[in-house]
Amino acid sequence: MTTADTPPVVAPALIPTLGGRWYVEERIFASEQERIFEQMWFCAVRSSDLADAGRFKKVQVGRESVLIVRGRDGQLRAFLNICRHRGAMLCTEDEGQVRRNLRCPYHAWTYGLDGKLVAAPNMAALKDERGADIDRVAYGLVPVALREWLGYAWVCLADDPPSFEDSVMGAVTERLGSPTAIDGYEIDTLRVGRRVVYDVAANWKLIVENFMECYHCATIHPELTEVLPEFADGLAAQVFVGHGAEFGPAISGFTIDGSAGFDRLPGVSPDQDRRYYAITIKPTVFVNLVPDHIIFHRMFPMSADRTIVECDWLYTPDVVAEGRDVSRSVELFHRVNEQDFEACERTQPAMSSRAYRDGGVLVPAEHHISEFHEWLHDCIGDER
Ligand code: FES
Ligand code: FE
Repeated sequence: MTTADTPPVVAPALIPTLGGRWYVEERIFASEQERIFEQMWFCAVRSSDLADAGRFKKVQVGRESVLIVRGRDGQLRAFLNICRHRGAMLCTEDEGQVRRNLRCPYHAWTYGLDGKLVAAPNMAALKDERGADIDRVAYGLVPVALREWLGYAWVCLADDPPSFEDSVMGAVTERLGSPTAIDGYEIDTLRVGRRVVYDVAANWKLIVENFMECYHCATIHPELTEVLPEFADGLAAQVFVGHGAEFGPAISGFTIDGSAGFDRLPGVSPDQDRRYYAITIKPTVFVNLVPDHIIFHRMFPMSADRTIVECDWLYTPDVVAEGRDVSRSVELFHRVNEQDFEACERTQPAMSSRAYRDGGVLVPAEHHISEFHEWLHDCIGDER
């Protein structure tokens, strides 16, 4: 009961952000590499980018170079991109295709697509010092855990990876309010209609924080707020469990001019129709669901002040195979991306200013971002 002597507890309107050095110090970025990117599930490649046996892609995960390769049995596997002989980087190209084997360019040790050592020059019988056959697995490439979900390969460098179900799938369930709500979009069956790679001169956390709030929407996203009028209120629809922002009454599709898009994805339910859902899967993935396509962001933090963002626009195989015009739907979120990344780049230099030494503040519509900050503290310790 509230009496005149005990005033009601009022939540503060403004709560502090992280201090600026969280976004600039190499020491903190190194901690994030070790304790976040090398410990959690990291979304590495679209599985269909490695459609054929022998296709490989090299991905930087934290401080490690990871090789993802399609085997002759059709399986995707991930390995540390390091030769077991004397440690040369095995594949130096970012991506490519081999016929049967991966061959080290230094002394030509050769590995199968399953990672086993298959040949080493002048060691025809491959015997160890006791004359026994060399264990081709023990001297094979070091495997990295890999899971495929939503049509992407996710890798984890941890010795004991966290539960994929709890961490990755759990983030989607937490946002949509149901473990099956994403299934109808059948994201694994969709095809990449467009990919744009953005090289953003900003810390990865600024990009996450920006994605988590919509306080900026009315200011910098005129096209998006036209399609989703409730975003003009500055409330982040992505905060409320199960809520998708509704298209405006005059809007036909999620396109740059609100004109009609494509047919609704077959499994999307009527209550998901004409709605936009944004999902953050920490640390580096954003998934945007609309009725006729998916916009899927993967971040690759390169340094404290540089992040590569790969954004895929995914459509039904028919739309892509028939060469239908995706430009109006691509243009909407491409513009949103450019507006967001420009804002992040404008913020990055201020992170090393004395004006931001103690950070800034979160207004009520941004308060949920403090959960992200608490999570960072839990991951890498108290760096305040
Ligand atoms: Fe690879 Fe020698 S370092 S074969
Ligand atoms: Fe935005």
